[in-house]
Amino acid sequence: MRPEVDSVLITADQIAARVKELGEEISRDFRGRELLVVGILKGSVVFVADLIRNLKIPICLDFVAVSSYGASTTSSGVVRFLKDLDESIEGRNVLVVDDIIDTGLTLRYLLDNLSRRQPAELKLCVLLDKPSRRKVEVPVHYRGFTIPDAFVVGYGLDCGGWFRNFPDIWVVKKATAVRA
Ligand code: PRP
Repeated sequence: MRPEVDSVLITADQIAARVKELGEEISRDFRGRELLVVGILKGSVVFVADLIRNLKIPICLDFVAVSSYGASTTSSGVVRFLKDLDESIEGRNVLVVDDIIDTGLTLRYLLDNLSRRQPAELKLCVLLDKPSRRKVEVPVHYRGFTIPDAFVVGYGLDCGGWFRNFPDIWVVKKATAVRA
């Protein structure tokens, strides 16, 4: 059964305004340099698509796909690459972009892995941060919104694969929430 949404947490207008600000901040920080933006599939695609159009510096775009550890397995933090980067990041300025940081296990693993490839700089940008759920420390350099511990969907985020197309970010009705 398809889950149901409850209420809007962040509107499309609020997201657009914040993404513009993030784009300006990142463009300022990397002024005069080139940037490789790395999106994490699938949740980041909508955010990445909007963010890069707010960057005023030369960028390239790549994606990685990583396996989710899922709700049923213990959160060991061991994440598997389903799709690795197409390009080398050695000596390059890299900005990892994800939709949400929750326990931090996925991004901790990914950032550790990428940092071993010797990029010149490695920064993290997340649209949503749920700090109350954090299990491991992860440095978040650019953050869109800090949110409470609710199951959120829309703007790329899913519940059981649904709602990625919603322009606003919604809270899922608790009784209908399922993990992807
Ligand atoms: C989400 C999100 C992060 C991760 C965050 O991906 O995009 O990568 O979970 O969780 P964590 O901080 O607890 O590790 P998900 O596994 O839902 O896959 P998706 O991006 O394909 O929706």
